Amino acid sequence: MQKLVIKGVRELSGKISISGSKNSTLPILAASILANQVRLKNIPLVKDIFTMVELLNFIGLKTKIVKEKNIIEIVNNEKNINTLAPYRLVKTMRAGVLVLGSLLTKYGKAKVSLPGGCAIGTRPVDLHLLALKKLGAKIKIKDGYIFAEAKHGLKGATIKFPSISVGATENALLAAFNAQGKTILKNCAIEPEIKDLISFLKKLGANIILKSRKIIISKTKIKNLKVNHEVIFDRIELGTYMIASALMAKKYIIIDKVDPKIAKSEIDILKRIGVKIIKKKKSVIVYKNKKLKKVNVTTKPYPGFPTDLQAQLMVLLTQVNGVSKIRENIFENRFMHIPELKRMGAQIKIKNKTAVIQGPTKLTGAEVMATDLRASVSLVLAGLVAENRTIINRIYHLDRGYETLDNKLKKCKAEIKRI
Ligand code: UD1
Repeated sequence: MQKLVIKGVRELSGKISISGSKNSTLPILAASILANQVRLKNIPLVKDIFTMVELLNFIGLKTKIVKEKNIIEIVNNEKNINTLAPYRLVKTMRAGVLVLGSLLTKYGKAKVSLPGGCAIGTRPVDLHLLALKKLGAKIKIKDGYIFAEAKHGLKGATIKFPSISVGATENALLAAFNAQGKTILKNCAIEPEIKDLISFLKKLGANIILKSRKIIISKTKIKNLKVNHEVIFDRIELGTYMIASALMAKKYIIIDKVDPKIAKSEIDILKRIGVKIIKKKKSVIVYKNKKLKKVNVTTKPYPGFPTDLQAQLMVLLTQVNGVSKIRENIFENRFMHIPELKRMGAQIKIKNKTAVIQGPTKLTGAEVMATDLRASVSLVLAGLVAENRTIINRIYHLDRGYETLDNKLKKCKAEIKRI
């Protein structure tokens, strides 16, 4: 099993280019089932994307990844379609459940494995199923699988989500694509990745209007089953490297291939802490600052501060002056990086949903264990700051979502090695 070895307290300099968004590419790949020919640019070459592509191949789509160009070409010639998403593929990557909406609306049936829990919480799919049922699907759960059927097609409906879910909004959008009549989704997630999915579906002929947290989908006139699309940048990767820069830049780091407007809440929080950030049209420049101040943050659905950056922000807060608080409002068990950070010297207490972080504390290298994607990258950030050597085990979590993280950091003069 691979490990990362980091020698800390090395100043970083140079430029980092941000990859395409994993969380945008995944639902768009699921949406490719609805098309005949798709060409996606700017896809990140990370494990979760390869798993989703394997699932599309299993379903019967033909795929070709051009690695040097971060492009995928997908053809659905409607031959030998298998409306099944097996446990083996959904268990390692929960976004596999997104093929449910596409398969059901296009082929009238789907059998998709229940994803099960994961390290950060139980992660149910009740909201996905609620939306599909409202659209007229018959749903049965048996032997760990969701059996969904809509023999005569789905019918548009008004659906108000009782709470905000990214995945349920995406599955409902995909299912509504071919439904008869108008669908109105209320209390939706409006993450930039959902807007990217909407822009892809519009290219396929969907008529979609997004107003605050309401999405209206009216009858799709399928006009274009050949689609070219460029995936948006990964705002979580941007946030991660902005934090790395704030912690360890010699003077500053340039982070490019981004749209700073989309990362407003992340940039605003970092500025409140005292990080100097200059926003350009397609890049940001993040400076090293000596006087950083405490902050209180609550994770929220977009446009709020993202749960996917909570662990990384916590590492920064171990280095600022004063006591900061982070309240995790999205997932019930997303503090598993804390025991590992404490082993490196961080002083953090958990009170219910809130982590109380004492800063500044000196971190020292240790052998630590990655538990999920974002927790593992927070350990990388801690390793960059810590004195001596940090060894991070189970970095397959990291490879699920960060494209060539070690190389990107190495180019900025970090001492980081994969063994
Ligand atoms: C997506 C992101 C993930 C991010 C999360 C929140 C992808 C591939 N993953 O995950 O990186 O951390 O959004 O921004 O885009 N819930 C229910 N019932 C449901 C669905 C969700 O109770 O049917 C709950 C979840 O347990 C969680 C909350 O709703 O507490 C938000 O989850 P959701 O927005 O659905 O996250 P994902 O789409 O799984």
